[in-house]
Parts: sequence; structure tokens; C-alpha cells
Amino acid sequence: MPPVLLLLLLCLCSSPASSDLASDRAALIALRSALHGRPLLWNLSASPCSWEGVKCALGRVVELRMPGMGLRGELPAGVIGNFTGLQTLSLRFNSLSGSLPPDLAGLSSLQNIYLQGNKFSGQLPDFLFSMQSLVRLNLALNEFDGVISTRFNNLSRLTVLYLEQNNFTGSIPELNLRLDQFNVSFNQLSGAVPTPFSGMPKSAFEGNSLCGKPLSPCNVTAATAGHKLSRRAIASIAVASLLVLLLVLVIVLLICCVRSGKKKRDNSKKAEAPKQPEIGNRAIGKTSDASGFNSMVFIRKQREKMFGLEDLLTASAEVLGKGTFGTTYKASLGAGITVAVKRLKDVSDSEIEFGEKIKEIGSMNHEGLVPLVAYYYSRGEKLLVYDYIPTGSLSALLHDDNGVGWTPLSWDTRCRIALRTAQAVAHIHSWGPGASHGNIKSSTVLLTKLYEPCLSDYGLARLAGPAVSPSRFHGYRAPEVIDIRIVSQEADVYSFGVLILELVTGKAPLMSLLAEDGVDLPRWVRGAVEQDPTAEVFDAELLRYQNVEEDMIQMLQIGIDCTEQSPDQRPSMAQLTKRMESFSQFHSFQEED
Ligand SMILES: *[C@@H]1O[C@H](CO)[C@@H](O)[C@H](O)[C@H]1NC(C)=O
Ligand SMILES: *[C@@H]1O[C@H](CO)[C@@H](O)[C@H](O)[C@H]1NC(C)=O
Ligand SMILES: *[C@@H]1O[C@H](CO)[C@@H](O)[C@H](O)[C@H]1NC(C)=O
Ligand SMILES: *[C@@H]1O[C@H](CO)[C@@H](O)[C@H](O)[C@H]1NC(C)=O
Ligand SMILES: *[C@@H]1O[C@H](CO)[C@@H](O)[C@H](O)[C@H]1NC(C)=O
Ligand SMILES: *[C@@H]1O[C@H](CO)[C@@H](O)[C@H](O)[C@H]1NC(C)=O
Repeated sequence: MPPVLLLLLLCLCSSPASSDLASDRAALIALRSALHGRPLLWNLSASPCSWEGVKCALGRVVELRMPGMGLRGELPAGVIGNFTGLQTLSLRFNSLSGSLPPDLAGLSSLQNIYLQGNKFSGQLPDFLFSMQSLVRLNLALNEFDGVISTRFNNLSRLTVLYLEQNNFTGSIPELNLRLDQFNVSFNQLSGAVPTPFSGMPKSAFEGNSLCGKPLSPCNVTAATAGHKLSRRAIASIAVASLLVLLLVLVIVLLICCVRSGKKKRDNSKKAEAPKQPEIGNRAIGKTSDASGFNSMVFIRKQREKMFGLEDLLTASAEVLGKGTFGTTYKASLGAGITVAVKRLKDVSDSEIEFGEKIKEIGSMNHEGLVPLVAYYYSRGEKLLVYDYIPTGSLSALLHDDNGVGWTPLSWDTRCRIALRTAQAVAHIHSWGPGASHGNIKSSTVLLTKLYEPCLSDYGLARLAGPAVSPSRFHGYRAPEVIDIRIVSQEADVYSFGVLILELVTGKAPLMSLLAEDGVDLPRWVRGAVEQDPTAEVFDAELLRYQNVEEDMIQMLQIGIDCTEQSPDQRPSMAQLTKRMESFSQFHSFQEED
């Protein structure tokens, strides 16, 4: 039995759930009224577990997420500490101030704290370092000051620590934690970066007075060595430096020229961005906003006040990618709101049919699915508005080695991406035998800042018109699929299997090398393994991880099983999730949920 079940069972047996939920409910109401903010449509006669931002498990509130709700004031004492089952607290991007309430310390299940983007201030409180359950702590973009304590070492389960853009002083302590993500940039830190951090990206430290790997070395010995050099040597160094300087100037100029050329091209791309759609009078279920515009239909009602069609149409847009179902743009709406807009091509549905399908897609709520916020339908234009997921696609992270700041994905991260993706697809499949994602591939798996996967494009296959034809070589499509509008769950499993093989081998299924002689990734892997069972099919980047061979072989086998030619021989998504959850690798991830 995975540890999470045991934990929850223990909670269930040891506490009378209903009175606990009543206490959680009282605390929720107290918290909301203390923090003001945007009105929430909490239905007070329904269970608090149905309230926006609240998630329960076994009759306790386990997640409280109120990001960007305009909350202000100080967190009141004696309220948050009452959510004794809480695992995740997210109040990011509000205007909360003051210090953290001491009763947080009593939350012995609290694993994730996301308080970035507020105005919390003062030194980090002592009680923080007794919160042994913490796994992820994000206090970035606040006004905390004081030193970064060595007592963080007490938080042995911590893997994510974000402290950037605060006012921390002193040096970075020697922390012996297994931190996957760490950032202290833009504080007032000085001194040397301790060796445990030397493998982290430079950008985790910028905006301080730090030195040492990965930044430049601490002692500038050149200045002292200079004394010993002869005048001649100094003269030749000077000449050489001048030459280097000139060379750099020339290169910079060249780059500028190329850039401005590219910008022009980009601008011409921007010109294709959603034009002002024609405003028909045939609107069904549409609302009008203050400016008199027919506006979008919001799936996430709580966002309705945050932007309208006009904001969208006047936003600066950037092409993110051209996919099977249309082009996606990144639109910056001002006030820090960024969304992704998909402009669908070839939709033949009527507005009513379209709206019904979209509502169904929009109701598939899962943390592994990119939230669909709103849509717009007119004769000339069909737009879908999604939350913008910042880190980019899995495809780009795996294959676009652009040199600067590129780090290969670790095995742990790949496993986590595989499991979370499987869970999200299983969630879609749980909606009924007809429900499928329809376009699983590494370019539709987007990653959040914390490298959690979020699937895009789900359900869009059903919106496509007959004109969207399958491309000849696709790489992810199951052999039995002839019409991309009809993608079965078995075909989803096949695509998922290709994705797994991609994660394990590091090879892109669309790579021309593989595709040229009609050998796709699943066939290439099978061939290699059959010829020589010890064949090196694994991504060379993964060979430096120790004690994971067993999991890597199991993962490869999952990829192979999913890509069986015959649909009925493939495992179901639910079976796959179970199989992956039993990996030793995943036990720690399970607990984190
Ligand atoms: C929190 O719990 C304490 C003790 O059970 C109780 O006295 C207090 O009223 C609760 N606070 C809120 C805001 O519900
Ligand atoms: C509030 O919840 C109650 C009980 O579940 C339900 O009967 C009622 O229709 C809900 N009200 C609204 C406005 O959703
Ligand atoms: C470290 O954690 C223990 C619990 O294991 C706690 O008792 C102790 O107070 C913590 N130390 C510090 C310095 O906070
Ligand atoms: C950071 O600290 C400095 C010096 O103590 C102070 O002047 C500055 O206002 C602080 N900045 C913020 C954002 O709190
Ligand atoms: C650290 O934070 C800074 C500022 O927010 C950001 O620019 C940088 O990319 C981050 N680096 C890492 C490795 O998270
Ligand atoms: C380098 O700097 C450290 C502290 O910054 C100092 O202790 C050490 O003596 C320096 N070494 C040299 C060779 O200057």
C-alpha cells in the first residue's frame, strides 16, 4: 500500500471527521472575512469542500488555494492553525503583509507553502524550522530580511526553496539538503556560494554580491599578479584586450543586426494575432461588458472581472507555437495577467455545439490539465483562453539544447512528469469510455515553474473540422488512427507510451534520423532491445544517476507495453498509473500530494 493511503487511513481512524470539517469551515469563514479581497462565491449552505480554492480528502480540508485574489492585511493568528489536516497552503500573489502567524507551526501535515508575491516582512520566524513536514517553501517576492538561517538544515524533506527578491543579507549557509529547486537571486547576499550549490544555475544567485562556482571565482588574483609582470607583458596584454574589445563590439553589432531582422519577422507574425473579431448579434449565452463589447464566455467565472475581450484584443501577443488545431499566442494583458490564446482553425460546429463541447472540456478540472479560462466564438474567429504555463513544453526542455542555461532533466523530474501526466490522462479517461485527450505528445505537455506537467490541447480533437488531416509522419499517433477527430483511449495510451520512450531515450519521435527510413521510436527501441538486451537505449544524460537502473528498465517496459500495435493489448491508463505509483522512485512523490 502506498504510504499516502496509510497516512490518510490513520487520520480517518483517529479523528471524528465531521466535527473537524465543521472547525475547518469556521476557520475558512474567519480567514476570508479577515483578509477581504475579491468576493468569493462560496455557497454557505453547501459543504466547504465544494468551495472554490478548497480541496478536501476524507472529510478534512487538505488544500487551500487563493492565489491572486486581492487579499490584503495580516494573516490573523489562531485561524490557519485550525486547519490541522492542511497539506498545501497557497496564498501567492496577494498583498498580504506582516509576519507569518505562529500557529502555522502546529500544522504537522503541511508540505507546500506558496506565499510568493506578497508583502510579508521581518525575519524568518523560528517556528518555521521546526516544520519537519515541509517539502516546498516559496517565499519569493516578499520583503523578508535578516539572514538565511543554517537551521533550514532541520527541514530534511525540503526539496524546493525559493527566497528570491527579498531583502536577505549575510551569506548563503552550507545547507546539506537535497534541494531540486533553489533561488536566492535579488537579495543583498554576499560571500561565497557554498559547494553544495555549485551545480545550480547562475540565475539562482544573480542580483547579489556573491562569488564562487557557478559564478566567477572569489579571489581576483590577476590584480596582485600584475605587479610581477614586466612592462612589455603589460603592454601586450593591453593590446590584446583592445583587440578582444573590438571583436566583442563587432559581434554585438552583428547580433543586433540579426535580432532586429528577426524582430521584424516576429512583428509580421504578430500581425496575424487575433484580429478584432467581427461582432455578430447572434450571441448565445454571451454577456456584454461595460464597453458594450460582446465578450467572451468565461468557464472560470471568478476570472470574469479580471479581463475582457477588449483587453485580449489589445494585448501584446507573441506566437508560442503552431499546433495541429491552430496557433497559440501568449498575450500579456497588463496588471501582470498573462494568458495563452489558441486560435482554432477549421471549426465546423455551430455556436451551440461548440459551446457545449467547450463546457465539457472546461469542466475537466485537474491539476495536471492547463485550465481553460474562457472562449470566444464568432463566425470568423474561435478563440480559447488558457492559463499561461511559463516554463515551456517538455519537447523544448528535452531537445532544444540552446547552450545557455540548458540543463538536462534529471531522472527524478522525468519520473515525476511521467506519473503526473499519466494521472492527468487517467482523469480524462475516467469521464467515460468516449473521453480521450487526443493529442498527447511532448509539445503539448507544458511545465510549470516547479516542473509539474500540465497537459494542453485536451479534447480539442473533437472540435476539429474534417479539413484537419493527419500529417503523414506524426510519431505519436497509434497505427489504427485514421481520423484525428476520433482518438480512442487506447490510442491515447499509445501516444503516452511514445512519450515515455522519449523521456527514457531522450530521442525525439519526430527526429528525421529515425523517421527517414520509416522507423519510428517504438520500433527503434524494440529493435535495439531485441537484438541486444543490454543495448544502450537510455539517454546518455541519465547514466550518471545511481541506483535507478531498475526503475529505468521498468519505465522502458511501460513504454514498450503501451506501444503495442494491437490496441487491445495495451494497458489502460488506470493500470499504468498504479504500476508507476509502485515504483520505489515514486514513494516520496506520493506523500507530497
Ligand atoms: C480555532 O480552534 C480553537 C480551538 O478549538 C477555537 O477556540 C477557535 O475559535 C478556532 N478559530 C476559528 C477561527 O475557527
Ligand atoms: C447551495 O448549496 C445548496 C446545497 O447543496 C444547494 O441546494 C443550492 O442550490 C446551492 N445554491 C447555489 C446558488 O448554488
Ligand atoms: C528541529 O526539528 C526538531 C524536530 O525533529 C525540533 O524539535 C527542533 O526544535 C528543530 N530545531 C530547530 C533549531 O528548530
Ligand atoms: C531592504 O533593506 C534596505 C536596508 O535595510 C532598505 O533600505 C530597503 O528599503 C529594503 N528593501 C525592501 C524592499 O524592503
Ligand atoms: C531565480 O529568480 C530570478 C528572479 O525571479 C529569475 O530571473 C531566475 O530565472 C530564477 N532562476 C532559477 C534557477 O530559478
Ligand atoms: C581568498 O579569499 C578568501 C576569503 O574571501 C581568503 O580567506 C583567502 O586568503 C584568499 N586567498 C588568496 C590566495 O588570496
